[in-house]
Amino acid sequence: MHVTHLSLADFRSYARVEVPLDPGVSAFVGANGQGKTNLVEAVGYLATLSSHRVSSDAPLVRMGADRAVIRAAVTQGERSQLVELELNPGKANRARINRSSQVRPRDVLGIVRTVLFAPEDLALVKGDPGERRRFLDELVTARSPRMAGVRSDYDRVLKQRNTLLKSAAMARRHGGRSMDMSTLDVWDQHLARAGAEVLARRLDLISALQPLTDKAYEALAPGGGPIALEYRSSSAPAGTEHAGPVTREELYEQLMGALAEARKQEIERGVTLIGPHRDDLLLKLGQLPAKGYASHGESWSYALALRLASYDLLRAEGNEPVLVLDDVFAELDARRRERLAELVAPGEQVLVTAAVDDDVPHVLAGARYAVADGQVERV
Ligand SMILES: Nc1ncnc2c1ncn2[C@@H]1O[C@H](COP(=O)(O)OP(=O)(O)OP(=O)(O)O)[C@@H](O)[C@H]1O
Ligand SMILES: [Mg+2]
Repeated sequence: MHVTHLSLADFRSYARVEVPLDPGVSAFVGANGQGKTNLVEAVGYLATLSSHRVSSDAPLVRMGADRAVIRAAVTQGERSQLVELELNPGKANRARINRSSQVRPRDVLGIVRTVLFAPEDLALVKGDPGERRRFLDELVTARSPRMAGVRSDYDRVLKQRNTLLKSAAMARRHGGRSMDMSTLDVWDQHLARAGAEVLARRLDLISALQPLTDKAYEALAPGGGPIALEYRSSSAPAGTEHAGPVTREELYEQLMGALAEARKQEIERGVTLIGPHRDDLLLKLGQLPAKGYASHGESWSYALALRLASYDLLRAEGNEPVLVLDDVFAELDARRRERLAELVAPGEQVLVTAAVDDDVPHVLAGARYAVADGQVERV
């Protein structure tokens, strides 16, 4: 798929901007702070309903405005669609498809798909487990937009279960009436049901991603691997996660068992300690975890390899995503820069940002846009 037109109103630094786009490479070039990342951030938001830079919507709305609108015309094969999101910080966001009446924002997932490379990706390797869970879940949702609903069910159940545990912890501390455990049993089942689905999708994704990441790492840093992706589950003892193919039912039982075992501790602490929200993806380089051991350059190659593998996977599954490369070339040495550029150049649509023309590798010749003073002009 590719975006044929992007239109922003009161998004970040843009009061209004209209950007017609072609398939192939488009490079957005301009000095620091002119709004290049803001443009591609908007495209990424349509694909994931979140920004790759901030966790809340408030900074996305132009200072002084009370809402932002992102609109994109999208073509996939013969089919064209118009998606529109209105961001209302503090209130519910709104969405429309083809100018029809409103739909839920998550109904637009799957129309725009992106794989976004950005300097922030280094946190995939060096950052907290939450970064890697987000990586997995965004890709799970890109493969299967229906999972956005399962995710939000899971989050809702988790919140309610935590509230229940917190009041149990309070009651326990203050010697109050002890809680009726059958209520918690019901929440355990809800959590395990949605959690098993999340787990199953993550495990399936990791096994699909493993060979592609290995291949991408080898292409970026020949001879530097091998790499291995290992899921670290809060509901399975370390080392038993990859004991073989697992069904939803087995994962459900695994979660129920782990919840039963952790219950006493959970009531003491007043928080849910078991479930996909506590899991991690261990990234190994050779025999060692990349986090804490890999060099800066190796960490970069690893992060890029994960993104390239994501791209290969989505493309192989039939819907080619838009590739977004935000400021990544400036961060790479000449050799990896050329390698990465060659790998992404054939993409159906590639959006690149760079502060200076020279940072855009030659193989990525294509349309150029100058970004300055809130304006985006094709040059
Ligand atoms: N909500 C907002 N309202 C108004 N301006 C904003 C808002 N959010 C960000 N900006 C402005 O947008 C600019 C940053 O834009 P952006 O991150 O797209 O820059 P860039 O062109 O990618 O720069 P660099 O080359 O440094 O990456 C900053 O000047 C910032 O003050
Ligand atoms: Mg930028």
